[in-house]
Amino acid sequence: MRIAFSLPLLLEDRLAPEALRHGHEIVARCSTAHELASRVELLKPDVVIVASTERHLTESLMSVCDGAGVRVLALLAGEADARYATSLGLLETIAADASWPQLEEALARFVYNQPEPVAPDHRGTVVAVWGPAGAPGRTTLAINIAAEIAAAGYSVALGDIDTYSGSIAPALGMLDESPGFAAACRLAGSDMLTQPELERIGQRYSSGQSGFWVLTGIGRPSRWPELSASRVVGTIAQCRQWVDYTILDTGFNLENDEEISSDLFAPRRNAASITALQHADRVIAVGAADPVGMARFLRAHVDLVETVASGRVMVVMNKVRASAVGLNPAAQIAQTLRRFGGIDTVTVIPADQAGLDTAVLLGKTLADAAPKSPARAAIRDFVASRILPPPVVLRRARRRHGLIVRLWSALPGTGARTTSR
Ligand SMILES: Nc1ncnc2c1ncn2[C@@H]1O[C@H](COP(=O)(O)OP(=O)(O)OP(=O)(O)O)[C@@H](O)[C@H]1O
Ligand SMILES: [Mg+2]
Repeated sequence: MRIAFSLPLLLEDRLAPEALRHGHEIVARCSTAHELASRVELLKPDVVIVASTERHLTESLMSVCDGAGVRVLALLAGEADARYATSLGLLETIAADASWPQLEEALARFVYNQPEPVAPDHRGTVVAVWGPAGAPGRTTLAINIAAEIAAAGYSVALGDIDTYSGSIAPALGMLDESPGFAAACRLAGSDMLTQPELERIGQRYSSGQSGFWVLTGIGRPSRWPELSASRVVGTIAQCRQWVDYTILDTGFNLENDEEISSDLFAPRRNAASITALQHADRVIAVGAADPVGMARFLRAHVDLVETVASGRVMVVMNKVRASAVGLNPAAQIAQTLRRFGGIDTVTVIPADQAGLDTAVLLGKTLADAAPKSPARAAIRDFVASRILPPPVVLRRARRRHGLIVRLWSALPGTGARTTSR
């Protein structure tokens, strides 16, 4: 193996002779990440071994290595080093005092741990949740849709790919020191994303018998270049093999960056969302149901249907309240969307300050924090009627009573109303 180091002298002195003794070639011994980053493309090592400190490992070294398809293994000398590697989304780590055979074992694990071939018989569904600027409730919908699908007995992963204001982790009371979706993207970029890796990266939101995986978002918006289009495609493909439903919370902005930047090779901030929308089986377009929110929604919806076929889009109007829209708000909203947007079918979710406040305060889903709240009932009905396959209906032996038993556990709520022509 061709190995490059970015290590403090003491570590390098211990490891270099061992590496040579085991038949490897050392192509660079650098004392800073900066120095190594400038040489990676030329030297093309198979692996770089770095100390997990700001001096020896940086975001730019990682992105140069990712770009060149070079694996990075970080040595951890303590808690602070572990936190630093995690904050960079680097999961390939080992204790700094590991012996060379242990280190080789770790290298072999991640060099040869290629993704399994795609099983054609399992293709999970991908649902992207999108909405215009103005916080219409994309994250709220994504979280609670994931929760309701999981409660119906399906395996679910919830991914935060909003490159402007990712907020799933804080909303569910989770740590976002290590952005899960970005970590998955890094592995996908080097063809190393597997189901065990997804389970290592994902955090589990548990709820009674059910629960779902969460791939948290980038805490710092400056990390958006990590979510490039090709990596997002690779991650989505693996998620399809991993779980029945992948729910993606996307950013609002659909502007094609080519129109903003003339540099064709510059990374694109909106690539993650646009790619997710184009690869999703279904797109939930959510707007805020007040005059300003609806105007914004209608303007942005034009861009949405240029990005994805309108047949895959389901429109949801959130935060519906009579005081903002007038009497019989569901009908008013349906009429406005039909007239000005040519949208025939819309689902309305009521404004539910109390329910949402409780959920946010507790860092839980509506099903856990406010199970009887109107917004929860509406989202549950929406999931059952528009996202999940129709329930199996069993006519029991007591057919003479005309009793039809629904096999799925959810009781139909009263909040959601889908209006269509
Ligand atoms: N049906 C509702 N009733 C009342 N409040 C709601 C409802 N849906 C969402 N909210 C509240 O609106 C705020 C914005 O919601 P959310 O974070 O889901 O929006 P977003 O579209 O993801 O925004 P951002 O642009 O920040 O990503 C939150 O405080 C949330 O609790
Ligand atoms: Mg959000």
